[in-house]
Amino acid sequence: MAVKAVETLNEKDAREELAELAEKIAAANRAYHTEDAPEISDADYDGLKRRNSEIEARFPHLKRADSPSDQVGAALAEGFTKVRHAVRMMSLSNAFDDEDIADFDISVRRYLGLSADETVSYTAEPKIDGLSLSLRYENGILMQAATRGDGAEGENVTANARTIDDIPERLDGAPEILEVRGEVYMSHADFAALNARQAERGGKTFANPRNAAAGSLRQLDSSITRDRPLRFFAYSWGELSEPLSETQMGAIDRLRSLGFQTNALTAVCHGPDDMLAQFRKIEAQRATLGYDIDGVVYKVNDLGFQARMGFRSTTPRWAIAHKFPAELAWTRLESIDIQVGRTGALSPVARLAPVTVGGVVVSNATLHNEDYIAGRDNEGNPIRDGKDIREGDWVQVYRAGDVIPKVADVDLSRRTNDTAFVFPEVCPECGSDAIREPGDAVRRCSGGMICPAQAIEKLKHFVSRAAFDIEGLGAKQVEQFYNDGWIKEPADIFELKSGYGSGLQQLRNREGWGEKSAAKLFDAIDERRTIPLRRVIFALGIRHVGESASNLLARHYGGWTTFEKAMVDAAPMEGAAWDELMAIDGVGAVLAQSLVSAMNQPAERASIDRLVAHLHIQDAERPNSEGSPVAGKTVVFTGTLEKMTRAEAKARAEALGAKVSGSVSAKTDILVAGPGAGSKEKKAQELGLTILDEDAWLELIGG
Ligand code: IVH
Repeated sequence: MAVKAVETLNEKDAREELAELAEKIAAANRAYHTEDAPEISDADYDGLKRRNSEIEARFPHLKRADSPSDQVGAALAEGFTKVRHAVRMMSLSNAFDDEDIADFDISVRRYLGLSADETVSYTAEPKIDGLSLSLRYENGILMQAATRGDGAEGENVTANARTIDDIPERLDGAPEILEVRGEVYMSHADFAALNARQAERGGKTFANPRNAAAGSLRQLDSSITRDRPLRFFAYSWGELSEPLSETQMGAIDRLRSLGFQTNALTAVCHGPDDMLAQFRKIEAQRATLGYDIDGVVYKVNDLGFQARMGFRSTTPRWAIAHKFPAELAWTRLESIDIQVGRTGALSPVARLAPVTVGGVVVSNATLHNEDYIAGRDNEGNPIRDGKDIREGDWVQVYRAGDVIPKVADVDLSRRTNDTAFVFPEVCPECGSDAIREPGDAVRRCSGGMICPAQAIEKLKHFVSRAAFDIEGLGAKQVEQFYNDGWIKEPADIFELKSGYGSGLQQLRNREGWGEKSAAKLFDAIDERRTIPLRRVIFALGIRHVGESASNLLARHYGGWTTFEKAMVDAAPMEGAAWDELMAIDGVGAVLAQSLVSAMNQPAERASIDRLVAHLHIQDAERPNSEGSPVAGKTVVFTGTLEKMTRAEAKARAEALGAKVSGSVSAKTDILVAGPGAGSKEKKAQELGLTILDEDAWLELIGG
């Protein structure tokens, strides 16, 4: 087929070609990354990607949800193609004590309409601390393995999964379609041996078995995965062409008879007392199991009940994870460092004498802010009985789940330092005043872009995925270029090529850069000179102005000139322009103040103006309500929306000519009900109104 100039394409051609390109690029990615057998040359591949970007630049509204240009980072840097799960991969809600389990049982019985004397049966099984994996078998043959990802889409790790002994290639007597789900993990012994081997070879060692398992499964080279001793427990399923059993326990037994490993500590319990007894039994064996577990999972045993109960937005109602208590350890706090972030926030970090907490070596922990160090909360009330934290103190550290370790307590009897920690009032990076506004828990550097720490963080934000997303210019390169004085603020990126006699020449001579990669970088930068308004607003990195607020602002103001003028007019923080800004649903006073002050701060403005001079900023799409299926209709949103915020949903509906109301009445035309919808949905049912879930709504309004 002859390739038409992008300028001459009509919408229909463009849409078709984007679909074709998405397919071709995905196939090339698969061949290259998963099958290790490239089918097209690098140059042809680049050509496809460029064509895709050019078409998208001209028709931004046709950009596909699975656009190859969004997959650059993920699919290329990390190398895996994406897989959409046929059935969403769920996570679990958590319980922390016995009472939570009694409440869970009550909520189950209430949901099912069972009386207090009817006992529900549950399975109880260890919660394996690994990473979940979904295996798709068709006619008994392993076709695909995918990580959980965000639940809707994961990474295709089929080649790697095939190297795991616990994962059968073929199954006898399996349903035609069977998706088996479970946990990939590494045993303690294998983990220790792997780390020893790695250390010997001077390779990377892993902090804990879970990281080792994740790092090993997500290897681009499956021969490396093959050398890593991974294991797999099956505990759940996705799409099925026929049911596995009538009960959870029956299904687990069936998976075992098909050839999967299932956990031997899985048991059926009758009611909460029995569940807690099994919890204690599993907890008592935790240290000798030989692999990490972090709690016990209970699931309603009757699959008919499970089906009746269904799901909240990301978790089933019929299951809960009972977590083991957080692990604690005492260690010495060697020093308190202050880090400076993108918005100038000074964050205190505890440097600790390394200590193992729950199998992980911890040497840093967050200290939150100066009040936390001083032993008071944001309102001035004492915490830790008012004990402050000092350098040299013995402190208690804990980890809860995956989060950054925290300092919980301090041992005054071992204190030797008689001076309290003095939180700096000047920025440790640039010496500017660090100011704490009334009502703000955080002290901030006032240096703006003259502060190197802020400047680097701002630049990193500027090139991040949802902002300018410049291929080849990631956090690492930005930091290097900043330190070498090549770029100090965003506008410099667009002057890089011309700004240094020949930036190209210079870059070519740098270590790690060649002719091709340098040229590619400049092309990627040029490509981003044309950019949608919402990305520009987000990229500015203004405090409180996140992705979704940037979207709202772009949609509301439409174009850069209008937006910019409105911000200047709103400078007095009163009057018509200010009122208009505050009236945008989803924009509150805190956001508005932060935005307007940033847009009127002279140094910041100068930097923004310099940037904008390099750009062609595309107006926000304004979906016209002509031919809109919802024009003139009254719409009510209720429950949780998963794909957009409430404010975005409202803005879009209104842009399409709908009227959005907060309450259901006979005048309502459509109720969009997400998970957790309550009385409004009931009322809408009674009134016989049209009720749509979020997907159906999106389909109605065209995605
Ligand atoms: S059941 C719909 N069972 O825990 C049910 N999950 O915190 C979905 N996990 O993403 C999960 N052991 O990776 C289930 N025995 C077990 C589990 C288990 C570990 C993980 C799984 C899930 C996470 C949720």
